[in-house]
Amino acid sequence: MEDDSTWLQAQARLERLIRDLPPETRLPSYRQLQQRYRLSPATVQRLLADMGRHGLLVTRPGSGTFTAPRRPPRRPADLSWQTLALGSRAGLGPDLERLVDPLPPDSIGLASGFPDERLQPLGLLAAAASRAARRPHGWSRLPPQGLPELRSFLAAEVADGQLTDQNVLIASGGQAALSAVFRHLCSPGDPVIVESPTYVGALATARAAGLVLVPVPGDAHGVLPDALADAFARTGSRVAYLQPRYANPHGSVLAAERREPVLAAAARARAFLLEDDWMRDFDLGAPTLPPLISADDDGHVIYLRSVSKPIAAGLRVSGLVARGPVLARLRRGRISDDLFVAPMLQQIALDVLTAPGWPRHLATVRRLLRERRDALATAIAELLTGCQLELLPGGGMHLWVRLPEGSSDADVTEAAAARGVAVTPGRASFPGEPPASYLRLSYAGEEPPALRQAVRTLAEVIVG
Ligand SMILES: Cc1ncc(COP(=O)(O)O)c(C=O)c1O
Repeated sequence: MEDDSTWLQAQARLERLIRDLPPETRLPSYRQLQQRYRLSPATVQRLLADMGRHGLLVTRPGSGTFTAPRRPPRRPADLSWQTLALGSRAGLGPDLERLVDPLPPDSIGLASGFPDERLQPLGLLAAAASRAARRPHGWSRLPPQGLPELRSFLAAEVADGQLTDQNVLIASGGQAALSAVFRHLCSPGDPVIVESPTYVGALATARAAGLVLVPVPGDAHGVLPDALADAFARTGSRVAYLQPRYANPHGSVLAAERREPVLAAAARARAFLLEDDWMRDFDLGAPTLPPLISADDDGHVIYLRSVSKPIAAGLRVSGLVARGPVLARLRRGRISDDLFVAPMLQQIALDVLTAPGWPRHLATVRRLLRERRDALATAIAELLTGCQLELLPGGGMHLWVRLPEGSSDADVTEAAAARGVAVTPGRASFPGEPPASYLRLSYAGEEPPALRQAVRTLAEVIVG
């Protein structure tokens, strides 16, 4: 039996022989090749079979093995027809890619929408995944609306005693859930109300669904209820997308006194409020109020909670919680999208959320995020002269920084990237024209020293 180096040498010599022979030339017999290269019959056979698979040889039964006929040189592919066939599609621009594209190596990432691996419950995840893999029904079908125990857990978490597993539909992450609501409850051309600014991914998926964005303003205390009521009345919209808790990008929390007027505006309009509670687990100080859905009796709120932020970006599991026939609509819509979410992932999510170590893990994550937030805010205050942090959010993962008059968020982002710092330009968060230049700086992906280093770089870029 030849060793690896004999094999490789023989392969190289045989290849040379074959390359030197003109196309469609008969090869010497197996026996001649064995003798010439001192190889076993099995090795010659394997080598020739390998070259056959690579298109260098062809075997003609009864006649022998030949070098392959010469192919006419391939012309370069003409893909220009695709431009016409594809047309254009709103919403699928580069802002969306920025959400998930990996960072260039060695850069400092303040653009991430997800906590980094140091904040993930890797031990709990490994144990949950190994338990899930051993379950007998791990690969079977589940009810399409999701694992009953996970649905019960999410219902109790949102409004204990008022809602059950029957009110919950599992989707594959928050983004897929947003997309399902926009596509299955609205039709292309329908108006959808969004806060301005808001989550880039919500704007992208609403645009991709062909919806017309209707921006409503907010302030540090959340959406303005009168503006929301006015937008419903003016446009006849049936859906408003809101983030009452630590809204992405600016971190506002809907004030207690605005909750009732917001719910009343939806009730008067006979419309839905899509409550994206993406930061449910990330109070970094005093606890915020329970979700809006817990104060809604008549099915106006469709509540969304994903586990990708608190557990791990790769755990694509979320829950949509609602009351009434809207659930049947969404359930059918979700089946038409992707049938159901992998049972294994749902089991892992339930296992981690109910693990005895989960509260301890969350407490650690909150402490670390608090340290990072404070380090970033301090660095901004000390180093970014002329920039303004309009709000220091009590939770979440981002700070929203207003740039000095005349600074362009796009230019700053590009210049920072050239110096190895990734940030998110604010303009993509506005459904219309941005009123000023902002950057969204995330503290989810870096530790305090790197955050300070990144702000120092930004200061060089902005202040000059
Ligand atoms: C406000 C908001 N909602 C929803 C999502 C979607 O996240 P996922 O699909 O990972 O649950 C994100 C992601 O960044 C977000 O920022």
